[in-house]
Amino acid sequence: MRLGLTGIRGRALRLAARRLVWPVGVALAMTTALAACDSQAPTAGGAAGREVASSAPLASVSAVAAAPAAASVVQAAAHDAGQTRAQVYESVRQMTALGKQLFFDASLSGSGKLACASCHSPDHAFSPANSLSVQLGGNDMHRSGMRAAPTLKYLQSVPAFAEHYHESDDEGDESVDAGPTGGLTWDGRVDRGSDQARIPLLSSFEMGSTPQKVTAAVKAAPYADAFRAAFGEHIFDNDDATFKAVLQALETFEQTPELFYPYTSKYDAYLAGKAQLTQAELRGLQVFNDEKKGNCASCHISQRSKDGAPPQFSDFGLIAIGVPRNRALPVNRDPHFYDLGACGPERADLEGRAEFCGIFRTPTLRNVALKKSFFHNGIYHSLAEVLRFYAQRDTNPEKFYPVSKGKVQKFDDLPQRYWANLNTEPPFDRKPGDRPALDEVEIKDVVAFLNTLTDGYKPAAQ
Ligand code: HEC
Ligand code: HEC
Repeated sequence: MRLGLTGIRGRALRLAARRLVWPVGVALAMTTALAACDSQAPTAGGAAGREVASSAPLASVSAVAAAPAAASVVQAAAHDAGQTRAQVYESVRQMTALGKQLFFDASLSGSGKLACASCHSPDHAFSPANSLSVQLGGNDMHRSGMRAAPTLKYLQSVPAFAEHYHESDDEGDESVDAGPTGGLTWDGRVDRGSDQARIPLLSSFEMGSTPQKVTAAVKAAPYADAFRAAFGEHIFDNDDATFKAVLQALETFEQTPELFYPYTSKYDAYLAGKAQLTQAELRGLQVFNDEKKGNCASCHISQRSKDGAPPQFSDFGLIAIGVPRNRALPVNRDPHFYDLGACGPERADLEGRAEFCGIFRTPTLRNVALKKSFFHNGIYHSLAEVLRFYAQRDTNPEKFYPVSKGKVQKFDDLPQRYWANLNTEPPFDRKPGDRPALDEVEIKDVVAFLNTLTDGYKPAAQ
């Protein structure tokens, strides 16, 4: 829970009105908008777009899953170019297909060995298949960065980064400042999928490529003709234009609803009245929601929003929870190096702004059971370890932080001058000697509940 907000805030999809991150992404809203066009209702755009977006019938899980990847980008282009609706869908279809091929294409990388999918495996909710804390890359495939690769699912609801985020009046109290919220990556430093895709492609410790190399790879790829068909006969004449088209196709692919936000977990079925949770899962959900116990739902929203939108299991807030330093990371061999999240070093625009140091964007917990490394530095490798950190960080800090001369070096990955940023709400409201917020049985129950958030649930045959 953040900055004086109380209760479980079902904040997720009301963000629809502000979801600027994925211009292609407000798929359902766009579908609704297109439908509105058809029925002569006012067209989407500006304030009308807000209305359409927030009144979309998101209560129905299947409606969300069935939404075609309508693209606002493409729609805007269509308006400009006078395209028909059918042409718009065709264009999205082409870009999605190309984006998919690009996503799996290692020839885009400097080493020729690394594709987006190498770190974002489709079988693991687009997070890594291995359990390394951080993935290896660079031209020799031996370099590593400082962060765990996150899931790419359910990013469609992430709002654009805002230093001061305010709820929409429909769903909450617009006057409350929820603090820094949104943006892609752990520190929220980019707002669009296309800008994000540029980062790994060019990063020296990830794909280590250049726009020229990417263009050359696409020209030589089996999908070169399809690329020309989608982006124009002369697209390859200009490396920058080709590179931008690559980024755009990747962004479009990442918004394929059935792959990236299908809402097919057991918990979705349970919310729709189509599945029952086991006793352990139900107890876990209760502990997860209980403000005096896990209090997890205050940040990882578990309830539908007022308009019936399915929960995203994140309020997208940037928060400091004092994750221990991962001493196994090469970058951390330098004792003066700190990954301070929003205030740097990966993010540059908030450098020197002390109130942003140590904060990282709250990740969704959908499909979290498919992940093998947790937190921004990948320090933990099981959900039970993560849960123990939440429950005992303040009651038994010696279990998580180094002890030197009998003294626990608490919050060893955040210089003391930033400790005021650390969250102190339950379960982080205790001190040594207090009872942990959760016991081992409750931890097991919460883990059981988290396992219900994995997509692809098939109800047992009746
Ligand atoms: C070497 C591993 C690696 C490769 C290859 C890689 N990524 Fe990532 N990806 C990461 C890491 C690590 C982060 C988190 C970065 C950060 O917080 O600074 C990330 C973050 C992201 C995010 C933001 C997720 C969020 O929660 O905000 C998106 C989207 C993404 N990657 C897409 C891609 C695409 C598209 C490609 C291919 C062009 C790609 N990635 C290639 C490791 C990788
Ligand atoms: C005050 C807000 C807040 C509360 C309360 C909270 N979390 Fe988190 N959660 C976060 C943030 C922020 C991160 C990322 C922190 C980081 O990596 O530095 C996170 C990360 C996680 C992760 C790792 C996910 C991943 O992809 O690496 C799990 C699992 C998790 N939380 C579960 C829980 C559970 C279970 C509870 C309740 C016991 C809980 N959280 C309570 C904000 C919160």
